[in-house]
Amino acid sequence: MKSLFAFCLFSLLITSCKSDETKLKDPATSEQLGELLFFDPILSSDSTISCASCHKPEFAFADNAAVSKGVGGKKGDRNAPSCMNLTFRNFMFWDGRMETLEEQALGPIENPVEMNLPLSEVINRLYRHKQYTTFFMNIYGKQPNRENIAKAIADYERTLETNNTAFDDYMQKGDTSEFSKSAQRGQEIFNVKGKCFECHFGPDFTNDQFRNLGLFNGKDLNDSGRFKVTRKPEDIGRFKTPGLRNISMTAPYMHNGMHKTLKEVIDYYDEPDKFVKNSVNRDTLLNKPLNLTDQDKKDLENFLLTLTDRRFLKKEAEKTSH
Ligand code: HEC
Ligand code: HEC
Repeated sequence: MKSLFAFCLFSLLITSCKSDETKLKDPATSEQLGELLFFDPILSSDSTISCASCHKPEFAFADNAAVSKGVGGKKGDRNAPSCMNLTFRNFMFWDGRMETLEEQALGPIENPVEMNLPLSEVINRLYRHKQYTTFFMNIYGKQPNRENIAKAIADYERTLETNNTAFDDYMQKGDTSEFSKSAQRGQEIFNVKGKCFECHFGPDFTNDQFRNLGLFNGKDLNDSGRFKVTRKPEDIGRFKTPGLRNISMTAPYMHNGMHKTLKEVIDYYDEPDKFVKNSVNRDTLLNKPLNLTDQDKKDLENFLLTLTDRRFLKKEAEKTSH
């Protein structure tokens, strides 16, 4: 009798947990539906991987591993960049092979080392899922299809813009309370001595171009980047200049995740030959060592730290106070 009671309680617990897990909150907008999809492993073949497995919200929607693991632990060969602040970008991926967030959104789902699920199966699954069908009907007046799945995810990604930073307060209001003297000197180094501004400028700190920092040598560094898309020899080793907002949250750095810290990135720019001697086609802006002093490097790093949105700083503070 007792054990029967325990069994019933047990099954009750399980079923209530289960229905809790699968019951999704009704999205009112395309953005909210996209958010559900972004975090839902239903989009991967074995239902274990969601977009957020590699684009982790706590790391500004980037991955903290050099290369991410997809279904079955399969590894890709590039570092997962942040999905934030992409609204105004005209190229997606390190080599710019896609041009809009809509086009991009479906790529990882079908990619064998990421989510590995044919789109027809995705549509099927969403169609069979009672709630998702209703959500798509309510929001688009249509069943889930290629276009509205991509639109939902892209609409959600466009909500991930950040500008609540010490840098923005300094630029807009001259507020120096969180923009130290060191950060101010760092900004000057960023603009002039370090030549960073030549490629990283505008509201999101990117020229939206493909440039070669010397991270290709055809041997151990053999990702030819933009060349894979255009097949133009001058594009060998060129990669998209990434934006720098929230850069303190998205280590490791570069297309291959080879630099673990911002300090290392700065050391690289200071003297690339110390890291890679036999690079092919390196940009002429990186021809001569920058001769940054230790203080310059510290200042430059402090400047980069002012680009972090406060939503992440708050999390950091909470983490360290526990
Ligand atoms: C297994 C890990 C993984 C999963 C899962 C994944 N991504 Fe990515 N994502 C990456 C990697 C790695 C790149 C860079 C690939 C490249 O440049 O060739 C990337 C690139 C991107 C970019 C381009 C960013 C930029 O700056 O160019 C966007 C946007 C993006 N992913 C969104 C998504 C969405 C939406 C999903 C879910 C549908 C998703 N990703 C699932 C690893 C992943
Ligand atoms: C010639 C153009 C150019 C210049 C000059 C330049 N960058 Fe970059 N930056 C890039 C490109 C292109 C990448 C990506 C390269 C790759 O992954 O192969 C990049 C990557 C980075 C990254 C890593 C971003 C990430 O998400 O992984 C940081 C940080 C960075 N740059 C900061 C700086 C700083 C600081 C300076 C000045 C000392 C600077 N950059 C100068 C073009 C440039």
